Amino acid sequence: MTRVLSGIQPSGKLHLGNYAGAIRQFLDLQAAGHELYVFVASYHALTTVHDAAAMRDNCRQVVLDYLAYGLDPARTHLYLQHDVPEVTELCWLLSAICPVPMMENAVSYKDKIAKGITPNMALMTYPVLQTADILAVDAEIVPVGKDQVQHLEIARDLAGKFNHEFKAEVFTVPKYRLAADAAVVPGTDGEKMSKSYGNTIDPFAEEKSLRKTIMGITTDSTPMEAAKDPETCTVYQIYRAIAGAEDARTAALAARYRAGGMGYGHAKQALFELVMDHFGAARVRRMALEAQPEIVDRALASGAAAARARAKATVARARAAVGLA
Ligand code: ADP
Ligand code: TRP
Repeated sequence: MTRVLSGIQPSGKLHLGNYAGAIRQFLDLQAAGHELYVFVASYHALTTVHDAAAMRDNCRQVVLDYLAYGLDPARTHLYLQHDVPEVTELCWLLSAICPVPMMENAVSYKDKIAKGITPNMALMTYPVLQTADILAVDAEIVPVGKDQVQHLEIARDLAGKFNHEFKAEVFTVPKYRLAADAAVVPGTDGEKMSKSYGNTIDPFAEEKSLRKTIMGITTDSTPMEAAKDPETCTVYQIYRAIAGAEDARTAALAARYRAGGMGYGHAKQALFELVMDHFGAARVRRMALEAQPEIVDRALASGAAAARARAKATVARARAAVGLA
C-alpha cells in the first residue's frame, strides 16, 4: 500500500480537465486500495481569490465534486488545506532552504507574471507550500496533470536538500504520477481547459447549460460533407479524454470524422451524450449530497484529523532537525 496525496485549488468550478488529469487518477488509486489524502488547496487559492464568500462557496463545491465523483471518506482522507495549518509552519521551515531563483524560474509563476499580474509573496512561494502539503503526510506518490510536473520536481529537490542540509532523514522524497493518457484537455476555445480561462466544461452543470456549453465549442469551417481530421478537432480531443483513447466509441467517432458527411454539430451531440452518460451516476450523487451537508462536514472533520496527526509528527521531526525542538 502506497501513501498518495493530491489537491486542487478552489479557484473556481472544477471541470473535465481536472477530472481527466487528476480526479480520475484519485479514483483509480482509491480503487487499488492505496492510502489517499485528497484536499482542497484553499491557502493556494488565496493567491488569487480575495473574496471570502467566493472562497467559502468554492471550497464547498470542490468537496461536493470530490464526493460525487466517488471519493469515499471511509477509504480516503478528504480535507480542507486550512484545517491542517501545520503545513504553513512546514512551508516556513522549507523556505529557509529554498533558493529564490528556483521560485522565480517556476513556469507557473513566470506565466502569471507574463499575463501582467503583480505577484504577491504567496504566489511566489506557492511551490514551497505545495511541497509542504506533500511532505507533511509523507506522501510517496502525487497524482497530477502534466502542468504540475515542475512543482513536483521542486518538491523532490527541496525534500532532498532539507534532509541533506540538516543531516537527517526528515522527509520522504515524493514521485509524481500522470494519467495513463496524459494529454492536456482543451477548453471550449481550443486552449488548455482552465478555471482561469473561462473555457471550461463542468460535468455537473444543469443539462441545458451543459448542452449550450458543448454546442459552443469552437470548430473550424470545414463543410459538413468534407472529410475531417479528428486529431485537430477540440470536440474529438475532449471526447477521447473522457471515453478513453482505446474505447470503441472513440474509434467510431474518429472514423465518422474521416469518412466525411458528419458535421461538427453531430460530434458535439455525441460529446454531450457521452458526458451525460459517463457522469450520470455522479450527477445523481451530487444532487443527493447537496441536501446532506452533515455528510460533507463529517467527511472533512475525519479527513482533517488524519492529515493533521501526520502533519504534526512531520513538523516535530523537522523542528528537531533544525534545532527548534
Ligand atoms: P486550473 O488550471 O483549472 O486552475 P488546477 O491548476 O487547479 O486547474 O489543476 C488541478 C489539477 O487538474 C492538476 O493536477 C492539473 O494538472 C489538472 N488539470 C487542470 N487542467 C487540466 C487540463 N486541461 N487537462 C488535464 N489536466 C488538467
Ligand atoms: N498546485 C496544484 C494545482 O494547481 C494544487 C496543489 C496544491 C497540489 N498543493 C498540492 C497538487 C499538493 C498536488 C500536491 O493543481
